[in-house]
Amino acid sequence: MAAEPTPAKKTGVDPSPPAPGSTPIPTASPNAFASPVFRPGLEGVPATHSSICDIDGLRGLLTYRGYPLEQLANQSSFLETTYLLIWGELPTIFQLRDFEQEVQMHRRVSFRIRDMMKCFPASGHPMDALQASAASLGLFYSRRALNDPQYVTEAVVRLIAKIPTMVAAFQLIRKGQDPIQPRDDLSYAANFLYMLTEREPDPLAARILDACLILHAEHSLNASTFSARVTASTLTDPYAVVASAVGTLAGPLHGGANEDVLDMLDQIGSEDQVEPWLDRAIASKQKIMGFGHREYKVKDPRAVILQRLAEDLFNRFGHDQMYDVARRLEAVAVDRLGPKGIYPNVDFYSGLVYRKLGIPRDLFTPIFAIARVAGWLAHWREQLGANRIYRPSQIYTGSSPRDWQPLEARAPIGAGAA
Ligand code: SDX
Repeated sequence: MAAEPTPAKKTGVDPSPPAPGSTPIPTASPNAFASPVFRPGLEGVPATHSSICDIDGLRGLLTYRGYPLEQLANQSSFLETTYLLIWGELPTIFQLRDFEQEVQMHRRVSFRIRDMMKCFPASGHPMDALQASAASLGLFYSRRALNDPQYVTEAVVRLIAKIPTMVAAFQLIRKGQDPIQPRDDLSYAANFLYMLTEREPDPLAARILDACLILHAEHSLNASTFSARVTASTLTDPYAVVASAVGTLAGPLHGGANEDVLDMLDQIGSEDQVEPWLDRAIASKQKIMGFGHREYKVKDPRAVILQRLAEDLFNRFGHDQMYDVARRLEAVAVDRLGPKGIYPNVDFYSGLVYRKLGIPRDLFTPIFAIARVAGWLAHWREQLGANRIYRPSQIYTGSSPRDWQPLEARAPIGAGAA
């Protein structure tokens, strides 16, 4: 378990030495609490205390509220894990049953939101549709009572329940079909697959998707969760918090990579093309999608579990030749990039699982979002418990003070200035 980060004191004195490549700055002005060290991307800079998730990036270990991820992926359910993340303890049998029933009762989405989606361009990316529809929930539940536990519980249930319905609804609408209403008698993952196809999924497929949701539910202060906490710190509503996080997750360096991994494997085409492709990619300093991580310097433990889930699916529903290409790419890329601490991350194998489940490629990141709503809401609650609005400092690199000049007095800056 990582040691408790020493909180940076109000004096802004950063206890750790400047990281290589950082830019130490002169002591901040007396009335500021700016840290004397700037770290690009806030790498290694604690931005909060949290008791939700712990990552050991050197040993490839991940725990949710102290429970090893492998145990949760093998023995828990996504809703039980969601309860654990958000309320801090595993639910009793009664607490879990009540939570599951509440979520089942709130899966439906207003026709107004479905009608709004019918105005979205069918060519739009499902993550943009999800961000818009998640934000629109705030129009229906606009009362902000963040200090009312009932309001907080209702918001958690609504978001966990409705996000999958909205992802599935846009999928049907963009095909010109009416959305499929959720079924209360199906489990969380089974119902999502049902709303995509109107067919009850194979129990193994539903079980594997549920495990994928557990694996993607939380990951400490990643970019989208940090975005959620910054948004939450202004005391806006939880729907805006989730919409802000969805927008952040959509980027290809973050949650969008799972979709790009399959595009990359398609581009490679076959095992014998892996090495020449990798040579060209490394020579052109191209990022290998699904590889590398800010925290992990070994193979992402989630990739290890996802690989096993993929093999379970292939054993049951037939092999995917792209898996052989992926495994060959992993072997060759680890040989070349492993010494730099660059290994497969969570996105490397997840797309192969979703493709075998028959999920369209541009829904891979929305599925990541469905799962990560649990983590974002856990951090939302935690932020509210000890809130201080995020407002970091900066290192100013602009012009020194200067006077405004009238148009006629402005000499062009260089020939042909625009
Ligand atoms: C997720 O933070 C989280 O927890 C995120 C996540 C979660 O659960 O929320 O785990 C989910 O976002 C997983 C990551 C998905 N993204 C990708 O797979 C995109 C490809 N990966 C990279 O873009 C990169 O590895 C990041 C963004 C994931 C991490 O980037 P860092 O920590 O900022 O590292 P960097 O870009 O500064 O790279 C450091 C060095 C560089 O080489 P040098 O210039 O020092 O020689 O490592 C190299 C990079 O070129 N490098 C890679 C690489 N990733 C880093 N080289 C080739 N391929 C890669 N994928």
